Amino acid sequence: MYKDKILKLLTSSRTGFVSGEDLAAKLGISRTMVWKHIKALGKEGLRIEAVPSKGYRLMAAPDVILLDELRQGLKTKVIGRNIHLRPEVESTNALAAELARKGAPEGTVVIAESQSGGKGRLGRTWISPRGNLYLSVVLRPNIAPHKAPLLTLMGAVAVAVAIRKHTALQASIKWPNDIFLAGKKAGGLLTEMSSEPDRIRHIVIGIGVDVNMAVDELPAQIRPVSTTIAAEKGEAIDRTALLQVLVNELDHWYQVFLNSEAAVLKEWQELNITTGKRVAVSGGGETLEGSAEGIDSEGRLILKLDDGTLRQVAAGDVTILKNREMKNAE
Ligand code: BTN
Repeated sequence: MYKDKILKLLTSSRTGFVSGEDLAAKLGISRTMVWKHIKALGKEGLRIEAVPSKGYRLMAAPDVILLDELRQGLKTKVIGRNIHLRPEVESTNALAAELARKGAPEGTVVIAESQSGGKGRLGRTWISPRGNLYLSVVLRPNIAPHKAPLLTLMGAVAVAVAIRKHTALQASIKWPNDIFLAGKKAGGLLTEMSSEPDRIRHIVIGIGVDVNMAVDELPAQIRPVSTTIAAEKGEAIDRTALLQVLVNELDHWYQVFLNSEAAVLKEWQELNITTGKRVAVSGGGETLEGSAEGIDSEGRLILKLDDGTLRQVAAGDVTILKNREMKNAE
């Protein structure tokens, strides 16, 4: 909290400098404590210069998430009542699940600047350097466990809407929960649940959005199909401001979900780029090809195979294929 306040004072100083004495007085702490927080900020990657008789100065505009600023912009009922922000964790989903097991209330949010073991869908790794958004939300909805996938769709809607609102980019969703920008993946969601046969103990919705990192930080094989918000927008993004919009949208869409699952499914349909396309769906050792007809009331993909039969697919990886007509024309 003090670190955030120090950063705020440094970034808003007209001369660039703020003396240790001023910082101490404004924060109501000792100069030694100010120095300790400055050192901690240095460890988080911020370059702060100390000039005798002038004070401290921030050497480069920081790309850090500011917790106080984030909290100030939240208008939420449930999500974000309780926020944990960490410089690095293994996985925000793992930490959120641990907190949930210890009784963390619904709406607890865990945010990290980077992850050392970020988890993706289907057992994959989620590359998580600084500069992006990594967050997990603890929910305790009173719904049947088989309805849980709908909450991932709800999260994907919130992410796509937040990106649209904050950046004006046409963010969309590829089934089940990939966030797409200009035909490339820019984010994803991983939902993990702890449940009994008829009751959910807690759900953790994990969200990763590629915001400011350089695309070449990703492994070569996924670079051609990946992008970031900054790359599409042509400028660096204020992650605190984007996060604020995102947490507000998550709260809004969670309330919508609790009132009407159909309303969330409707919005998902509006934002998705899978329906109506010819797709290949791989998972469980098989790949099915057909036309994506939409999703059912539990969020499963309805696939029309070439022999006309309909299949409901609960999990898998979708590749959008070119239409047959287009293939033939090539
Ligand atoms: C995907 O494979 O598309 C889903 C990726 C989900 C990544 C996010 S980052 C925050 C949260 N913590 C994790 O370990 N994973 C999710």
